[in-house]
Amino acid sequence: MRMRRKRNLEPRMEACAALLIARGRPCLNLKKAAEEYRALVNYAKLFGNKNPVELEVGCGNGGFIAEKAKRFPDINFLAVELCTNVVLTAMERIRAEGIPNVRFLNIPAEILPCYLPEGSVERIYLNFSTPLPETSREKQRLTAPRFLQIYRTLLKEGGSIEQKTDSEPFFDYSLEQYAGNGFSVGEITRDLHHSEYVAENIVTEYEQNFVAQGKKIFRAVAVKN
Ligand SMILES: C[S@@+](CC[C@H](N)C(=O)[O-])C[C@H]1O[C@@H](n2cnc3c(N)ncnc32)[C@H](O)[C@@H]1O
Repeated sequence: MRMRRKRNLEPRMEACAALLIARGRPCLNLKKAAEEYRALVNYAKLFGNKNPVELEVGCGNGGFIAEKAKRFPDINFLAVELCTNVVLTAMERIRAEGIPNVRFLNIPAEILPCYLPEGSVERIYLNFSTPLPETSREKQRLTAPRFLQIYRTLLKEGGSIEQKTDSEPFFDYSLEQYAGNGFSVGEITRDLHHSEYVAENIVTEYEQNFVAQGKKIFRAVAVKN
């Protein structure tokens, strides 16, 4: 089902313009765009400091990134979200709370290399990315090889991806892809909420629902080799 456009979407997006680095896609051919189009962000100018940068892909309504940014004021956070309706909720939250260290890109993750310099990101968060079980949609999974290549390019040496999901098949698929695409996987748990990693866990909106339904949460950290 298609989501209804939010009321007053454009004026509300405009009101959050200071938080938004990029919107839309530079052209329809994403591969070509990523190779040829460059509007590289200057982090020092954007955030007014030289703090490390972390990135969430598919930030949804922004609960995770808001909490993360409050807990870690000395880290700069970027949040990518494809859907304008959804990123608006996230941006309005950050704006209302006056959180200074978050900026947004309303673009498909496929074109992140158009905007983010190579080797500039310390950590990437993939929280409850849509599992897309159909074989025909494998390429769209956010841990498919083409995305892992993008993450490898953006990450610094020793940088990492932290993934959480409620889908065991998607989790197993992702572990296989990390191993085959230049990442070493660690900190694996198949029941995050009954593991040693729960103390520092920030619960996302989707996670809250899944946990309420009694589902187990899978988590792993993949480090760039
Ligand atoms: C299932 S939601 C999870 C939202 C949030 N991370 C959470 O845990 O509550 C996945 C989000 O990823 C976004 N998304 C999916 N594919 C994307 C892509 N290629 N680029 C950017 N965002 C994407 C969707 O629009 C959606 O908001």
